[in-house]
Amino acid sequence: MKGLILSGGKGTRLRPFTYTGAKQLVPVANKPVLFYAIEDLVEAGIRDIGIVIGDTGDQIRAAVGDGSRLNAQVTYIPQEAPLGLAHGVKIARGFIGAESFVLFLGDNFIRDGIVSEVRHFAERALNCQIMLHRVEHPENLGVAVLDGDRVVRLVEKPREFISNLALVGIYMFDPHIFEAIEQIKPSPRGELEITDAIQQLLDMGYRVGHQIVKGHWIDTGKVSDMLDANRLVLETIETLIEGAVDGGSKVIGGAIIEAGAQVIDSVIRGPVIIGANTRIERAFVGPFTAIGHDCLITHAEIENSIVMENSQIKNVRDRISDSLIGRFVEVSQSPPVPKTLRLMLGDHSQVGVL
Ligand code: G1P
Repeated sequence: MKGLILSGGKGTRLRPFTYTGAKQLVPVANKPVLFYAIEDLVEAGIRDIGIVIGDTGDQIRAAVGDGSRLNAQVTYIPQEAPLGLAHGVKIARGFIGAESFVLFLGDNFIRDGIVSEVRHFAERALNCQIMLHRVEHPENLGVAVLDGDRVVRLVEKPREFISNLALVGIYMFDPHIFEAIEQIKPSPRGELEITDAIQQLLDMGYRVGHQIVKGHWIDTGKVSDMLDANRLVLETIETLIEGAVDGGSKVIGGAIIEAGAQVIDSVIRGPVIIGANTRIERAFVGPFTAIGHDCLITHAEIENSIVMENSQIKNVRDRISDSLIGRFVEVSQSPPVPKTLRLMLGDHSQVGVL
């Protein structure tokens, strides 16, 4: 079996981060969300992986390389324009050949991996297997209607409620999917939808199985989703302190403090990860926070947040919470007079003041 990860897309809901970077490279516990997808495939025994890339392709290539660091062998497949998930599959036909494959959307995060689902698909003679998750807001996703245990209908972003079983962005196919994709037309949003292609498989009489995912699944399109995924990973970490923690500091609960990091006169209340060469001085880093490498947090308090590499937070009196802070960002106190907020924010930035 092969793996195919779709890693194009514009990521409009994650602006301003996606003005400069790929949404699949936003870090979750200091690791790009895309790496979890690769690891899930490798864990399921799939190492031959194609990655479909778009405008942000160079960044994806730079981050993933040939995949060997993640124990995978990666082939890049450039997509000229974002013409839909099924289009991404269509252009990968040469790479897939006659094999079955797992299609994994590069911004999907699934806590418990896909080992049992891949086994389930391999053991039954299915042409396709979808994964479903019960959600409160199915209107933003693809959904499936079941009759007993049978998948009978699939609809992309239904306007009217027909099911609360959402399509997880992880699918298993045999090469019949390419026939189905040839039959479908672009949707109202102008894209070839994978949901329509699977409906087409059903219409052609092919066998489409399903599995209901009980564990956590996150489609990491928004800031709150990134923070949720970050929390889920941090919940599972085991303490590993390779950096230096001075006698004036306290580390409570699970914490990863990477090599070269320094914690000085500070309180770290885990679960927390602090990247290499980051300095935490006279600060509080609270639960569910991931600080990237080469950051400085001093005279500040932060919790339930992601801070990407090379950023600085200095002399901030109010506690920062529920925040996603990009790379090379500086948050600091303004001079006391005049008493004003001084902001330099890019397009689509969001600030919550007290
Ligand atoms: C895509 C699929 C949708 C699926 C979702 C999962 O939506 O079209 O069926 O439920 O991924 O993440 P999109 O992210 O393109 O809006």
